[in-house]
Amino acid sequence: MKQFLTLDDLSNFDAQVQLAKDIKANPYQFEEVGKRKTLGLLFFNPSLRTRLSTQKAGRLLGMDVMVMNFSNEAWAIEYEDQTIMEGLRSEHVKEAAQVVSQYCDVVGIRAFATLTDKEKDESEQVLQKFIKYASVPILNMESATAHPLQALADALTLKELELPKKPKVVLTWAPHPKALPHAVGNSFTRMMGHIDADFVIANPKGYDLDPRITKGIPVVHNQAEALKEADVVYAKNWSSYDSYGQILRTDNEWMLTPGKMKQTNNAAFMHCLPIRRNVVVSDGVLDSTHSKVIEQANNRTFAAAAVLKTLLS
Ligand code: CP
Repeated sequence: MKQFLTLDDLSNFDAQVQLAKDIKANPYQFEEVGKRKTLGLLFFNPSLRTRLSTQKAGRLLGMDVMVMNFSNEAWAIEYEDQTIMEGLRSEHVKEAAQVVSQYCDVVGIRAFATLTDKEKDESEQVLQKFIKYASVPILNMESATAHPLQALADALTLKELELPKKPKVVLTWAPHPKALPHAVGNSFTRMMGHIDADFVIANPKGYDLDPRITKGIPVVHNQAEALKEADVVYAKNWSSYDSYGQILRTDNEWMLTPGKMKQTNNAAFMHCLPIRRNVVVSDGVLDSTHSKVIEQANNRTFAAAAVLKTLLS
């Protein structure tokens, strides 16, 4: 594997989830794999889990890890070719990617969607320009359209749950005061394509995800109907895809509550975090034994270690 931009880069999804599970059981078994190798993590947006778990993953493999926060530590990067750089951007990605490649053996990049320009977001400009000029593998730590490390960790969490042979898994939109990207919803949906499950997406009208990603998957606009008999409920907000980046509703009708969870089959509750309490989900759900959010965050380390091991191999 030369890069990890989406789950499609994995040659064997099941083997990758199993590798993450094996590393979780025996975290230091590959500590020689990354010896004398350097992992560089470039953050253009905030992070808690991705930043710490990917550092930890690199160290489990024996790697040195360097982290840079581009929002306040680095020169502002220019991505356009043949531009006259007389504005605020001081460094071109052409030099930056080549320079970073000299210091690192793998480079992780987090660069969210702008949510203002769909075409530009879907071009994944930051990732693609780094790939163009870098000479080392690039690891997607959440881009405009995908968060594959989260999805792989979620697959591990699902694998660890005691679920029926073909569980009902519901990805439900939930309220949020800010416009959020589609990356987590996209990658969770893609990931569910690898799992034998009755998978349903529930979201209000106007909030359907990219139809190229949801093709063949039931998308319903009635949350109560979707939650009936669910074995897993994965909550996530995303802004409108059609009315790109817009917030179309501000009510709390779609917030997950203990009353709604009662309609499920004692479903496990999942969310990638961070989560706004009593906006996305009420305390009663998040603090219940059904909540798997902390274990999901724990599994980020082992999913990242599995991907790094594959990239280094
Ligand atoms: N789930 C996730 O990616 O968390 P962070 O944004 O804190 O990294």
